[in-house]
Amino acid sequence: MEPYKKAITINEALKRGEGRVTLRGWVYRKRVLKEKAFILLRDSTGVIQLVFPRERLKDAEELNLESSIVVTGALVREPRAPGGVELHVESVDWAYIGEPYPINEDAVVADSEYLLDVRHLWVRSRKMQAVLKIRHTIFGAIHEYFRKNGFYEVHTPMFITAAVEGGATLFKVDYFGQPVYLTQSSQFYLEVLIYSLEKVYVIAPSFRAEPSRTRRHLTEFWHAEMEMAWAGMNDAARVGEELISYVVERVLAERQDELRLLGRRTEFLERAKPPFYRVSYDEAVDILRKKGISINWGDDIGADEERALTLEFDKPIILYGFPEKLKAFYHRNDPKRPEVTLSFDVLLPEGYGEVIGGGERIYEEKELVEKIVRFGLNPKDYWWYIDLRKYGSVPHAGFGLGVDRLTMWITGADHIRDVVPFPRDVRRTAP
Ligand code: 4AD
Repeated sequence: MEPYKKAITINEALKRGEGRVTLRGWVYRKRVLKEKAFILLRDSTGVIQLVFPRERLKDAEELNLESSIVVTGALVREPRAPGGVELHVESVDWAYIGEPYPINEDAVVADSEYLLDVRHLWVRSRKMQAVLKIRHTIFGAIHEYFRKNGFYEVHTPMFITAAVEGGATLFKVDYFGQPVYLTQSSQFYLEVLIYSLEKVYVIAPSFRAEPSRTRRHLTEFWHAEMEMAWAGMNDAARVGEELISYVVERVLAERQDELRLLGRRTEFLERAKPPFYRVSYDEAVDILRKKGISINWGDDIGADEERALTLEFDKPIILYGFPEKLKAFYHRNDPKRPEVTLSFDVLLPEGYGEVIGGGERIYEEKELVEKIVRFGLNPKDYWWYIDLRKYGSVPHAGFGLGVDRLTMWITGADHIRDVVPFPRDVRRTAP
């Protein structure tokens, strides 16, 4: 028995189409007839049909779905087989039969609670495989974009003591008897690091104690954040639209098979090229009112309003100029119009909504301390953040992009949980 026997990948076998080869993988489908048996074998690269002749039927009968096997045989072109090639099995070199597999991929609804309970197994499904490969491409492309554009990758702590996005969604951790929190955003540390490296980014988890279960909120999500010195809101917004369009372009170039497997239509992805639409908060309120949605100037633009707004446009929207009280204290107020901030969100089309939040930061010490106090916060909690404004402070701006949300849109998923291998929400911390 030879589990380590040299084998080629299924994708490679489909390309070769002939010759004697060894393959290894997991049983994806099984059909045993009187004269022969057909097994679909899958690995990380694809699926191929194995044909077991009459004298090997017993070998095939023993196998369960997801049993792991190593087989040797002859590749034969067969137009009726998936991928146009099948393997005529000569020997089963190794097998781990295991127990009957509990998931029937055809019988389950993709977002059912059951699939979350068995996530440790469901990640093997072709659908999750496709999502995970697209996620892989998305994360790689984010790194590529930032590195090609002069940003340094940095790393920031996850244990923190000063809330970035308000106290309501902080997770408290017992830190040797002292209360500390899990970070909601690495922004303040990026603001520190621009004084060393000028343009910085980080891709890291962020944590929010979100008590409600929605389609687009997790308690632990992946956050790609950037900060740049000598920059204002429009500079950051431009980086945001370029980044999204770069990532989408990479996925379209590398992941057509996976998008097809997921049934994702790509017109909106293809159209997501800069410039995105610029819509001010004031204009958004007008558009929403014209659509019959009751909203007053100063009201929050929530998930439903965002959805309604994005359905009016065929590309992502940069929504900017939010009233002061709708955004965190660190946003710089517009000097020409102090009731609004130099802040923006990027909203994804097709109803998906917010994927980026960002803007220009307050860079003057007095203005920052006043706003901290105005927001009912204690300047002492932000001592080192304020300290930055004492030494060579410069205008600067940045944003945070929710990578899981971007993945949701790119894959066309209905729920953020469907694009994360091990999602965390208010009710779930296992598997
Ligand atoms: O708009 P947010 O709260 O902005 C910040 O955290 C800033 N400090 C970022 C910065 O400027 N450096 O979050 C940014 C993005 C959101 O647009 C959303 O895509 C994602 O993070 N996000 C979440 N994704 C999944 N689940 C959650 N609970 C999320 N909360 C925010």
